[in-house]
Amino acid sequence: MTTRAQAQGSSTGSATADSDSGAFSGEVAEYYAEFRRGYPSAVLDALQTAFTLDADAAIGDLALDLGCGTGQLALPLATRVRTVIGMDPEPDMLRQARAEAARRGVGNALWVLGSDTDVPALHGVLPARLGLTVIGNAVHWMRYEELFRTLRPLTRPGGGVAVIANGTPIWAQETDWSRALRTALEDHFGGSLATSCGTAADDRERYARALTAAGFADVHETTLDYAAELTFEQLLGSLYSAIPAPDLPAPPARPAFAARLRAALPPGPAYPEQVRVSLLTGRA
Ligand SMILES: C[S@@+](CC[C@H](N)C(=O)[O-])C[C@H]1O[C@@H](n2cnc3c(N)ncnc32)[C@H](O)[C@@H]1O
Repeated sequence: MTTRAQAQGSSTGSATADSDSGAFSGEVAEYYAEFRRGYPSAVLDALQTAFTLDADAAIGDLALDLGCGTGQLALPLATRVRTVIGMDPEPDMLRQARAEAARRGVGNALWVLGSDTDVPALHGVLPARLGLTVIGNAVHWMRYEELFRTLRPLTRPGGGVAVIANGTPIWAQETDWSRALRTALEDHFGGSLATSCGTAADDRERYARALTAAGFADVHETTLDYAAELTFEQLLGSLYSAIPAPDLPAPPARPAFAARLRAALPPGPAYPEQVRVSLLTGRA
């Protein structure tokens, strides 16, 4: 059995793009902006080197962050290219991204409401112009085969696509606290949780084959590992950023929900995790 709570971390691999579901709306977008882990600068360094990204104000690169959410990738990428387009079907996620861009003084990001199926419309305005398209923790909602075929002619020679998986969901890690979290969530939601968001080996192989079939070259995966720690508050906020909005416990029920989780988890004070960021890249 599966629950709706798995949706934000699931990896069905099917073309089930559900951009109108509101899964990331409202408070989920707020939790995402505040608590979802970002990307270490080594990830941006690797992208910049792989695709020789240029930030020159006149002739520099244009990058697309598809499924940009609250800007976890688009915002740091903005300093490495001339312009970044953050595209996402959820207006509340884009609102958070735009607000964070303003807070950071990022003036070269363009926020566009749209999903993978809107990318073909970019042909008219961006032929062979994209230095990089990044898709972070979002490709599992997309019709990726079609998308990669669409992106190939939009990408400049030497540019490319990076399909990024940002670690393992917090309820699916090989630690005691993560296993306890998973059991508590399965009790609460009454079903089994998905354990991958496009990170499983067979998912990555399918994406790699599709990139090659679409005409991208030198398709390969690199990984970056680092250690992190979550406080209980961060763990809870991160969890709330991964529960589809209609399934979030109602605000009055949250203290009891949090207390049940805290009782189920080892005492803390911190919950260590090993984060593996996987970058599957292909070059035009
Ligand atoms: C888990 S978040 C990832 C956000 C960010 N890229 C990151 O790395 O943290 C997934 C995002 O994909 C968006 N999304 C869902 N379906 C999509 C689709 N068909 N096309 C583009 N984005 C989509 C969601 O609205 C959400 O903001």
